[in-house]
Amino acid sequence: MENETEEYGFYSKHIFFCTNERKPGHPRGCCAEKNALKIRAYMKAKIKEFGIKNIRINTSGCLDRCELGPTIVIYPDNIWYNYSSIVDIDEIIQDHIIGGNVVKRLALTANQEEIKN
Ligand code: FES
Repeated sequence: MENETEEYGFYSKHIFFCTNERKPGHPRGCCAEKNALKIRAYMKAKIKEFGIKNIRINTSGCLDRCELGPTIVIYPDNIWYNYSSIVDIDEIIQDHIIGGNVVKRLALTANQEEIKN
């Protein structure tokens, strides 16, 4: 599989930022109301500023983990994060994207149903 990824893969990491917007008061909430668009723009600019290549940061529709949002997912790592500020994004860039380590304090587990405080 590793050789095939080299041959057929394109980005080394593909980051999806949920920016889904729902009407105010929706029971599931939405990532847009939690500043997702602005923070996605920040991350994109930071990745460029650091000169990190071969990474794509896309907006996405609902990733269906709304109650845990705002959420991003990083593939092919299949690591999901909740973030609340640019400080969290800086940590994800430094530790995960550059350092190759999961930021455990922000990572969502597979069966997680609510945000830990
Ligand atoms: S609205 Fe963002 S995960 Fe559903």
